[in-house]
Amino acid sequence: MPPAPEGTPTTRSAARVALRDIDRAADRAPIARLLSATGAFTAAEIEVALELVDEPPEGGYRFVVADVDGALAGYACHGATPCTVGTHDLYWIAVDPARQGLGVGRALLDAVERAVRAAQGRLLVIETASKPEYAATRAFYERCGLTLTARIPDFYATGDDKLVYCRRFDA
Ligand SMILES: CC(C)(COP(=O)(O)OP(=O)(O)OC[C@H]1O[C@@H](n2cnc3c(N)ncnc32)[C@H](O)[C@@H]1OP(=O)(O)O)[C@@H](O)C(=O)NCCC(=O)NCCS
Repeated sequence: MPPAPEGTPTTRSAARVALRDIDRAADRAPIARLLSATGAFTAAEIEVALELVDEPPEGGYRFVVADVDGALAGYACHGATPCTVGTHDLYWIAVDPARQGLGVGRALLDAVERAVRAAQGRLLVIETASKPEYAATRAFYERCGLTLTARIPDFYATGDDKLVYCRRFDA
């Protein structure tokens, strides 16, 4: 099949998702752009996300980057949770809006889960919010088979609960 011309919408079946480790220097700007483009994150949240990119590799934050057709389309950041035995956090996952719905997010989550299992992890924990703007994110986690395990009412703001989704690897 000839390559789709530039600007042609990429169908799910045609998406060529390649997963790789982060190149902190080269990927920082595309990650900043995609975090902003999602519209899901405040400026303060983007700053925190980029601080994790800027951490030295030995700092404990691990990354998976997804390229589609050779360009950065999404990334996930995860790491072992300090002071636990085998619990890991997914800190960030984000996909370029132009590439959403193509399986990139699922590919990133699968890669994170493989990394957690490879590190003898027992539990992957993901925190999100109950506000309406995060409905798509919750739908994504639920479609990916994560279990809503806990809720802290009014955590982020009055009426905006913290939701904790989990995947167990030892059950
Ligand atoms: C949440 C997010 C990472 C999902 O990435 P994505 O690449 O669009 O998701 P995928 O295409 O891999 O979808 C995986 C599954 O979730 C479902 N899904 C994804 N978005 C959905 C939505 N808006 N509504 C309903 N289901 C959805 C898909 O239908 C798919 O299910 P299927 O494989 O059974 O058909 C992406 O939408 C995003 O970056 N959102 C903004 C940032 C964010 O909220 N990040 C999480 C907080 S850190």
